[in-house]
Amino acid sequence: MKEIKIESIFHVYESFEELSSEIKTLMQTAIEARKKAYSPYSKFKVGAALLLDNGEIVIGNNQENASYPSGLCAERTAIYYAGAKYPKATILRLAISAASENRKTTRPIPPCGACRQAIAEYEVKQETPIEIYFMGEEGKVIRSNSLANLLPLIFDKSVL
Ligand code: THU
Repeated sequence: MKEIKIESIFHVYESFEELSSEIKTLMQTAIEARKKAYSPYSKFKVGAALLLDNGEIVIGNNQENASYPSGLCAERTAIYYAGAKYPKATILRLAISAASENRKTTRPIPPCGACRQAIAEYEVKQETPIEIYFMGEEGKVIRSNSLANLLPLIFDKSVL
């Protein structure tokens, strides 16, 4: 038996203001998408914005359902929308912002495990890392240079 160590590196920005103007634009688009989330049950709103290599920005937000498991997260709504509309495009970046209606969300909110798996599918398919930025409503922003960084020991098509 031996131990393996898997390292993940993240970059932390003190606030939205520290982002470059290009990333601010993408994050602002995610924030606008977040405000339009349909989340009457959790009162937790998430917005996502994807920048594609064709210059298009594709958005998504969480869509909830009275039958709770039928709802979908913002990140998957966005990435499936991008996959449906621009199947040949490469996804360069993803910005995510989350906010609760009950209290101020000041910590960066990462994508859930199911969304990580969904994003991983596209990163593997396009053979190019997807840069991911995530934040709450305000406060620090975290950057991951690749989805792989958020999902060690990935399950992908290479095992099938
Ligand atoms: N949610 C997202 O949109 N993305 C995530 O990565 C985590 C959770 C949504 C799902 C649900 O509508 C609400 O946030 C509370 O879990």
